[in-house]
Amino acid sequence: MAQTGLQLFGGNWTESKLDALDQYLRVYAKVLSKQPFERVYIDAFAGTGYREQRTDPAAQHGTMFDVFEGDEEPQQFLDGSARIALKIEPPFNRYVFVEMEQRRAAELEKLRQEFPRRASAIDVQCGDANVAIQALCRSWNTRLSRGVLFLDPYGMQVEWPTIEAIAKTRSIDVWILFPFAVNRLLTRDPQDIPPGWQDRLNKMFGSEDWQRRFYRTKTTANIFSGPEEVVEKALTLQGLGSYYRERLAKVFSRVAPNPRMLLNSRNSPLFQLHFAAANPDRGGEIALRIAEHILNNI
Ligand SMILES: C[S@@+](CC[C@H](N)C(=O)[O-])C[C@H]1O[C@@H](n2cnc3c(N)ncnc32)[C@H](O)[C@@H]1O
Repeated sequence: MAQTGLQLFGGNWTESKLDALDQYLRVYAKVLSKQPFERVYIDAFAGTGYREQRTDPAAQHGTMFDVFEGDEEPQQFLDGSARIALKIEPPFNRYVFVEMEQRRAAELEKLRQEFPRRASAIDVQCGDANVAIQALCRSWNTRLSRGVLFLDPYGMQVEWPTIEAIAKTRSIDVWILFPFAVNRLLTRDPQDIPPGWQDRLNKMFGSEDWQRRFYRTKTTANIFSGPEEVVEKALTLQGLGSYYRERLAKVFSRVAPNPRMLLNSRNSPLFQLHFAAANPDRGGEIALRIAEHILNNI
């Protein structure tokens, strides 16, 4: 394995998200193998195939839009999402791995040697997930294909047009990690949110109504100047996650009612794991039932 120098991390929350994916893919592959569809696994933030942590110190501390993951215990080389998907039986007909970093994409290419029987089905795309997934969804054939998509970003990288494009396929199920790092952008006074952050929030939620949702106007008594209106933050992390779920429910026919909080080793929420099915038919109903069960049990 050409991964010397990389430190591997992953606490229980990493375990939980990958466990959910693994369980879902197992059931999905079995159920769909009895149907005439092409089965596609899509990993939009694929990494290397192994769980790893970023090595450059700046990236380790992340940007304002990332979640800091540096407090977990080092572990051995463990399977990341791409390898988990490649091990599923019966296999998928196509694997699309999208990864922005060239070095990581090169590692994904090597999976062809490790999984020779899957080699011709593996498509590695080095680039931005939003661009790649929107292009894939545009050329998606709903009549022929069924897919599972894993959206596992470091932070706020998933943009709303990507979510809309997935929903429009009406045949892709998606597991999404919603980052609580969003909360860092929501300053106590909304006037303090710089335009760049507002733009980032709008792109993530696909709406501007988060402003009304996360802030409320309160009238306070001022003994000198009379009543005064102040705007204050009125938000819990649960509320933040519920809002994202509501946004998903605007475009997906089915969204799991029980998203799962993923906590770090200090019990701070890092992400919320959501599931949404684009299929409006019975397939979507079954998918939702399976996902709900998994979310309750990971
Ligand atoms: C949390 S890691 C993914 C881990 C992977 N799912 C696994 O289980 O092994 C996020 C990955 O997304 C990549 N990435 C970050 N921004 C991206 C973007 N805009 N498009 C595609 N990949 C991106 C990072 O280089 C990193 O490898």
